[in-house]
Amino acid sequence: MGSGIAQVAAAAGCEVLLHDANMSVLSGAIESIKIQYGKLVAKGKIDEHNAKEIIARIRPAYQLSELMHSELVIEAIIEKLEVKKTVFQSLENLVSENCILASNTSSISIASIAASCRIPERVIGIHFFNPAPLMQLVEVIPAIQTHQAVLELAVSTISSWNKTVAIAKDTPGFIVNRVARPFYSEAIRIYEEGIADFTTIDHAMKSFGGFRMGPFELMDFIGNDVNYAVTESVFTAFYFDPRYKPSFTQKRLTEAGFLGRKSGRGYYDYRENPENNSPTEDQILLQYIFERILVMLINEAADACHLGIASALDIDQAMQKGVNYPKGLLKWADEIGIENCVRRMDKLYDEYHEDRYRCSALLRRMIRLNQQFFAQ
Ligand SMILES: NC(=O)c1ccc[n+]([C@@H]2O[C@H](COP(=O)([O-])OP(=O)(O)OC[C@H]3O[C@@H](n4cnc5c(N)ncnc54)[C@H](O)[C@@H]3O)[C@@H](O)[C@H]2O)c1
Repeated sequence: MGSGIAQVAAAAGCEVLLHDANMSVLSGAIESIKIQYGKLVAKGKIDEHNAKEIIARIRPAYQLSELMHSELVIEAIIEKLEVKKTVFQSLENLVSENCILASNTSSISIASIAASCRIPERVIGIHFFNPAPLMQLVEVIPAIQTHQAVLELAVSTISSWNKTVAIAKDTPGFIVNRVARPFYSEAIRIYEEGIADFTTIDHAMKSFGGFRMGPFELMDFIGNDVNYAVTESVFTAFYFDPRYKPSFTQKRLTEAGFLGRKSGRGYYDYRENPENNSPTEDQILLQYIFERILVMLINEAADACHLGIASALDIDQAMQKGVNYPKGLLKWADEIGIENCVRRMDKLYDEYHEDRYRCSALLRRMIRLNQQFFAQ
């Protein structure tokens, strides 16, 4: 992630120092940046002079102390709080008091990182998506300690790097990794209940919903080990709220080494002459699957809005730019009708009596007040 973020900053004109504790990783990252720009030049996507200038702006820093004159440091090291704390403390002793210290963490609270610092007010989350040069979204996460001026500077800096910023509350999964959970979990649930197979569920989300990839294709692409680990960490971080419960289906795939594309097998078979089923074309079934997963996504997005995780606009932008959803979920809710969303959630709850199907209070309130998320 670090080398991708370095490219984004350098492409926007910043002088970048790239540091890694492992020298060979650092040299490899600089080499791979050169190779990637070489390919872009060969494809005619960028001119050679421009590419050379960008590459020249990224310099290796073999010692952490070389970062002493930085105005912004974005940490993207191993996802372990204790290691991050040590690095932030070392950084604090090096840089000036005006330097912003940011973390690209996906799952650690920004408040806990900030708490390890002498000046916690200058610590903030700046969360890129992988691959950073291609993904448009960046979530910016102020901790409760973060100074407003630091938030404003972080937002204006990242916006000037041609990225779309969504401001998120410092809660597990921030926006995208929280709101996207039902895309996977409800799809797996439908499969586990024997309602449809993987291919049919994927087909429903692509043909009815316009999603670029179905949930199972996407989990195979991300890696079942990675996707399962995120689900488990979000579930634990939410004090075991059943809404985020991981599945045995994905756990077993991970245990079996069926990790997805990278291991040749996941939900699908990626080896030579694969044996993958064709989806059914039962339109009623496809529509049922699509509507069930969509309403669970909308409900999660509405609840995130209700709990002030982010604004309706930021939630919609985050899902479109961070995970390529074809439409903002809350805009979708407006289009379907809020009443319809509540009816569908209540139908699921009536059937299962499980807490995961509880309807967001915000949706109910919006019906009472005759509201929509966005003005027409
Ligand atoms: N991979 C993703 O898709 C993704 C997406 C968004 C955010 N993130 C976050 O970005 C961070 C990095 O993730 P990654 O996938 O790039 O990890 P990675 O393991 O590929 O890279 C981490 C690098 O940090 C280096 N490192 C470890 N300890 C260090 C230290 N004390 N000082 C300096 N360098 C050190 C390692 O040598 C390694 O090269 C994590 O916090 C992760 O949660 C990852």
